[in-house]
Amino acid sequence: MFYLLFGVIIMKKIWIIHNSKYGNSEKIAKQLADGLKDSYDVSENSIKKISPEDIAKDEPYGLIVAVRIVAFNSDREIRKFLREVDNFTTKPISKVAYFATHALGWKKLFIRGMKKTLKKIGCVEEVCPEFLEVKMQKPEGPAVEGADAKIGEFISTLKEFLA
Ligand SMILES: Cc1cc2nc3c(=O)[nH]c(=O)nc-3n(C[C@H](O)[C@H](O)[C@H](O)COP(=O)(O)O)c2cc1C
Repeated sequence: MFYLLFGVIIMKKIWIIHNSKYGNSEKIAKQLADGLKDSYDVSENSIKKISPEDIAKDEPYGLIVAVRIVAFNSDREIRKFLREVDNFTTKPISKVAYFATHALGWKKLFIRGMKKTLKKIGCVEEVCPEFLEVKMQKPEGPAVEGADAKIGEFISTLKEFLA
């Protein structure tokens, strides 16, 4: 969580990245950031505004990835970004977790590409065995009823996983 160095509290760095078009995954990324910020030094941003090098330079302890489901698959752009992070990373990322937003029926196989990508990335040490999926009422959102409770539960899951 955090440690003391010369009497100064140092919090571990967590990055949350998204590639949000309609704002659904950005909103959840911010909710997760809010839920974790009391224990971690959390940064959240779009992959359109930061570079893979920026993430790698920060040497994050944890990385949380928002995955939009696009055309029955997990977002190719964010998977490409992750492979590029891997190219710049000199220190392994200890903990990686992800969540998905979608607007149609949920099929776990839609996330298959994400799982494959994470398996192939050398810098990832441990992937959270649980992931969050949030259904939207329509592509532009908002989320279906009950989403906030699910997000809250996922924050607890993340806290255990990151500890
Ligand atoms: C071009 C396009 C294709 C999509 N394809 C799917 C799909 O195959 N399955 C699904 O459940 N949702 C699909 N969606 C809905 C998105 O997954 C959903 O709107 C998501 O929350 C978008 O995230 P964002 O608001 O962060 O951009 C699609 C949306 C777009 C724009």
